[in-house]
Amino acid sequence: AAAPREAFSSRTVFIFAAIGSAVGLGNIWRFPYIAYENGGGAFIIPYLVALLTAGIPLLMLEYGVGHRFRASAPLAYRRLHPKTEWIGWWQMGISFVIAIYYAVILGWAMLYTFFSIDKAWGTDPGTFFLGDFLQVSEEVTVGFDFVPSVLVATGVAWLALLVVLLLGVQNGIGKVNLILIPLLVLMFLVIVVIALTLPGATDGLNALFTPNWAALGDSAVWVAAYGQIFFSLSVGFGIMITYSSYLKPKTDLTSSGLVVGFGNSSFEILAGIGVFAALGFMASAAGTAVDEVATSGIGLAFIAFPTIISQAPFGTLIGVLFFASLTFAGFTSLVSIVEVVVAAVQDKLGLRRRTAVIAVGVPMAIISLGLFTTTTGLNLLDVTDNFVNQFGIVAAALVSVMLLTAGFSALPTLRDHLNSVSSFKLGRTWMVVAGGITPIVLGYILIDTLTTTVAEGYGEMPTWFVNTFGWGMAIGLVVIAYVLSKLPWPAASRANELSPS
Ligand code: PHE
Ligand code: NA
Repeated sequence: AAAPREAFSSRTVFIFAAIGSAVGLGNIWRFPYIAYENGGGAFIIPYLVALLTAGIPLLMLEYGVGHRFRASAPLAYRRLHPKTEWIGWWQMGISFVIAIYYAVILGWAMLYTFFSIDKAWGTDPGTFFLGDFLQVSEEVTVGFDFVPSVLVATGVAWLALLVVLLLGVQNGIGKVNLILIPLLVLMFLVIVVIALTLPGATDGLNALFTPNWAALGDSAVWVAAYGQIFFSLSVGFGIMITYSSYLKPKTDLTSSGLVVGFGNSSFEILAGIGVFAALGFMASAAGTAVDEVATSGIGLAFIAFPTIISQAPFGTLIGVLFFASLTFAGFTSLVSIVEVVVAAVQDKLGLRRRTAVIAVGVPMAIISLGLFTTTTGLNLLDVTDNFVNQFGIVAAALVSVMLLTAGFSALPTLRDHLNSVSSFKLGRTWMVVAGGITPIVLGYILIDTLTTTVAEGYGEMPTWFVNTFGWGMAIGLVVIAYVLSKLPWPAASRANELSPS
């Protein structure tokens, strides 16, 4: 007989793991700029509305699916209704794609932690990042000129990841989050305290928090708020299904969802303060306004922050803490993404955990290193990231919510299940927001980005490149998911029944 399903030892461990998954690069390098661009202090209103009407309700929905059906995403959906199994495979495919490039950013962050000590980027961090560091090729293509330092660092990230996953749900995933999440919060608090003492910090905070109330009348601001919430909570593509399937039968799910949702948002606000205080310093050191230096994403982390680190008092300390924070936040997210794939393969083939981790982790690591640690990896990463987020995550979340509500009327079952184990009870409001508001907003976001991307194309890249790794990849994931859902399940995985718990 199959071994009993692994479990987190307590709800606290699960909450740490779920927060570890949610708190990622997006909290640190995406939220501050999105808030700044979309109304500053006034952004808090659409943001909270999005959190309460979409983020947390959807989080609870995913907990419901994972906990009720106690399986990886494809098997959980199959148990819900065989016609929904393909969504689980789609979610697994999305996780696969995200993981292979996310790990590379982790590799960069690890290297920059050390670079902070001797300011290896010299006087021009932008030129260093694209030149000496990534050696970015002129040509947009797929090539196999490896960048040795990035190759090695990313390899170390994959190795650490494999070790954690091999140790299992409680001893690996649970423990690593119990250690890294408190450390992450502590380190970021130190960054915030130092950043607040820098000259110019208040200008940065004013830039971030000064409310532009007129922004509330702009639909794009609301779309940005919902987009940030979906991205930040990483709901809608199987992570929370997978983690909640490792909970004991009697576990308060809805309260956990509240803790995770508000915990993730608290960290976003904290990051906003730290990042904009530092940007305020950068602006004042350069004698410019904050809007001249405000950025997000890779540019913020690997170009603006090195500039700040080189100039600020306690710069080395800020640098080490900042890049270690990125590394920890990214690692705990990566663990959760890869676990989606591991769990799916394990269920499908009826494997022991260890076999599944090796069978999944080694090929993923090889593909990740082969495609993204090269001189052509940056453009590939850019396209993949954009399309898997815009048309993968959003579309998968939309389809799954629509099938769960309109298609197979699963909401009452899930509500009853959630209420049977939880203290915070869900009523009609939850059904309306999860089944009504969420799909409308997701549909709007999807159509909006779809029409702009079709009309304007993506970036300065050759069409074949965007068609292959953008559109082709996004559509390919759906086709592959459909094919996988047609493969027979081995009797050993007892696919259609719930194992006694
Ligand atoms: N939610 C994470 C963040 O805010 C990002 C993430 C995306 C994590 C996809 C897992 C998967 O940074
Ligand atoms: Na997040």
